[in-house]
Formats: sequence, C-alpha cells, structure tokens
Amino acid sequence: MKKILITGGAGFIGSHVIRLFVDKYPDYHIYNLDKLTYAGNLENLKDVEEKPNYTFIKGDIIDDNFTQKLFEKYLFDGVIHLAAESHVDRSITNPMEFIMTNIVGTVNLLNAARNIWKNNFGDKRFYHVSTDEVYGSLGETGYFFEDTPYDPHSPYSASKASSDHLVRAYHDTYNLPVIISNCSNNYGPNQFPEKLIPLFINNIRHNKPLPVYGKGENVRDWLYVVDHARAIDVIYHSDKTGETYNIGGHNEWKNIDLIKVLCRVMDKKLGRDKGTSEKLITYVTDRAGHDLRYAIDSSKLQKKLGWKPSLQFEEGIEKTVDWYLANQEWLDNVTSGNYQKYYEDMYGRR
Ligand code: NAD
Ligand code: TYD
Repeated sequence: MKKILITGGAGFIGSHVIRLFVDKYPDYHIYNLDKLTYAGNLENLKDVEEKPNYTFIKGDIIDDNFTQKLFEKYLFDGVIHLAAESHVDRSITNPMEFIMTNIVGTVNLLNAARNIWKNNFGDKRFYHVSTDEVYGSLGETGYFFEDTPYDPHSPYSASKASSDHLVRAYHDTYNLPVIISNCSNNYGPNQFPEKLIPLFINNIRHNKPLPVYGKGENVRDWLYVVDHARAIDVIYHSDKTGETYNIGGHNEWKNIDLIKVLCRVMDKKLGRDKGTSEKLITYVTDRAGHDLRYAIDSSKLQKKLGWKPSLQFEEGIEKTVDWYLANQEWLDNVTSGNYQKYYEDMYGRR
C-alpha cells in the first residue's frame, strides 16, 4: 500500500484532494497533516474520516523536529503539499505567518523527504501546489505560461514564489523528484468566507454590504475546485518529475461582472426581487498592490496530460451557491467567534 502525505487537507482545496484520493485509490493510504488554523476545518471531511485508508494527523509544518519524526515514522512514498497561509489580505496585515508556513514549512518538508528517501527515489514524488499569483500581474492581454518570469507583489505571492524556487532548487541540487503546479483562483464548496465568492454569498444572505475593492475592474481566472483536484491527480501520476504545469479555467471575469452574476443567482435562489442584492454593492478602498489581471494558459497540461475543466462557470457558480445555502450551519460555524473580529478589523477601517 502506498503511503501518501497530503498537507493542508482540512482546508478548502486540500479537502477536495483528500476526498478524491481516498475514494479513487483504495490501495493508497492517505495521511492528512494539518495544523487546523482558522482555515482548516475537519467538518470538510466528515464523509471521509471513517474510511480505512485515511488518517488525520494534527501538526505544524513549521516544526522541523515534528516533520522529521513524522517522515521517519510513516516513510511516505509521496507528498502532495497544499498547507499554506493563503489569503492575500491577511498577508498584508501579517506577513510573518506567511514566511513561516509557506517558506520555512515547505523547506522542512523538503528536508524530511530528502532525509528518508536518501537517493532511492524510485517512483517517489514531492508535489508542491502553488498559485498563478507568483507570475505577478498581466495587462489587458496575454497569459501566464510555465516559463513566465516570477514577479510577485503581495507577501502571500512572494512567499509562494519563494517556496516554488526552493522546491526547484531541491530538484536541481539534490535530484529530489519534485513537481509543481500553479493554479488560478478556485471557487466551490468549503472555501473559507474571507475569499471573494463565499464572503459575498454570506453577506448577501445577511443583507450586508458587498465590499468591492477599487472599481471592481480587476480580472481573475476562475476554476471550480473539483477540477483543480482532478488536475492534481493527473499531475501527481504523470511520468516526468522536475516539471511545472499551469492549471486554469480559461474563465476570466472582471470582479464587478462576476459579482453581478452572483447577485442574480442569489436573488433567484433566495426568492428575492431582481436587483435586490446588487444594491448591496459598496465600493471600498483598493487592496494595496492589487494585481490587475491573472490569466492562465493551461495548454501544456491539456496537451500532455489530457486534463480539461469539466464545468462551465454558470453551472459551477449555481452548484457553489446551492452548496452554501444547503450548508448554512457550516457557514455560521466558521463565521462565528474570531471571524467576527477579523471582519471588523479588515473592513471596519476601509
Ligand atoms: P486554505 O487556507 O483553505 O487551507 C490551508 C490549509 O493549510 C488549512 O487547512 C490550514 O489549517 C493548513 N495549514 C496552514 N498553516 C499550516 C501549518 N503551519 N502546518 C500545517 N497545516 C497548516 O487554502 P486553499 O485555498 O485550500 O489553498 C491550498 C493551497 O493551494 C495553498 O498552497 C495555496 O497557495 C494554493 N492555491 C490556492 C488557490 C485558491 O484559489 N484558493 C489557487 C491556487 C493555489
Ligand atoms: P480573493 O478571493 O481574495 O482572491 P485573490 O486575491 O487571491 O485573487 O479576491 C479575488 C478578487 O476579489 C481580487 O481581485 C480582490 C477582490 N476582492 C474584493 O473586491 N472584495 C473583497 O472583499 C475580497 C475578499 C476580494
């Protein structure tokens, strides 16, 4: 039985990757290592927790002694590394947590893998999950390719860029069998409501203002989270290490246009009059260093590994809204307590 370590499995994307791997590969044992920060939630994995090929381990990747012992105990055959601090706005107020988890934590995992694998790599894999934000910001045209130079602007993207460089350095210096993917913005069930789509769904539900940064003209390329998990599966099982793949939805939206679609879908689902939710749109001070546009060219992944997104955006957004409305208890649980303070701190001063 292959032992696969998935880090950050209690988070948004990680929980979808865990579910896919546990269900699809009964001959793998999946170990979910997660610190359970505010963004990690074991409720995301309720349907998986009793499965015989799944084990949850609570722990912090910043702790090198812990990560080293963990690898010695379980002798993992592969690693899919998603654990990270992931929210740009939080990185602006508290960069150091991002440096510690995203950079130091990644190096701890690389060292632990290197120490147990020695030079017997066989079909071992260290898969680092990263973001398109490392490439910086595009103008009105053009795409990010795998060889686009890195140009990060936020502490979040700079910490992810740094970890990507270190992962590549461990490949080039120690031959560690690494793979990296850089994905565009994800949306879907289980996303913590500090990111645009779940935050706005929650605010519309409570008739609260929808804080649009700047003029709402920034563009993001949105991918349904299950399609990201499917891409991770295909890439993890690809033949060649040392490779990078871009993952994206070819689905660019100006924030304000996406928000209007979301408002329309919410009005319909909540039985409100057309135009009700749009009235909640409130323009607020722009995010510092706000990247104008992200857009991914994923043709390498599509051509070499045969992946493509399975959902059209309209279908994905309906599914997403349906999930949050059917799981209001989940939303209420994660938005109580510390979240209230975060919200006041973040939006109270805008
Ligand atoms: P998330 O914030 O929802 O989840 C992160 C998880 O990591 C949480 O469960 C958290 O508890 C855990 N974690 C944080 N610090 C840890 C530590 N020190 N030790 C152990 N566990 C820790 O993030 P997400 O949106 O699911 O993103 C997952 C990965 O995918 C990240 O690496 C992110 O950079 C990348 N990514 C995200 C997106 C996106 O749109 N969300 C897009 C591209 C890439
Ligand atoms: P976000 O979901 O934080 O993802 P990222 O910054 O990683 O792209 O934000 C998506 C876009 O929405 C981004 O351009 C910032 C904008 N945004 C707002 O306008 N208001 C908000 O309250 C949030 C959280 C984001």
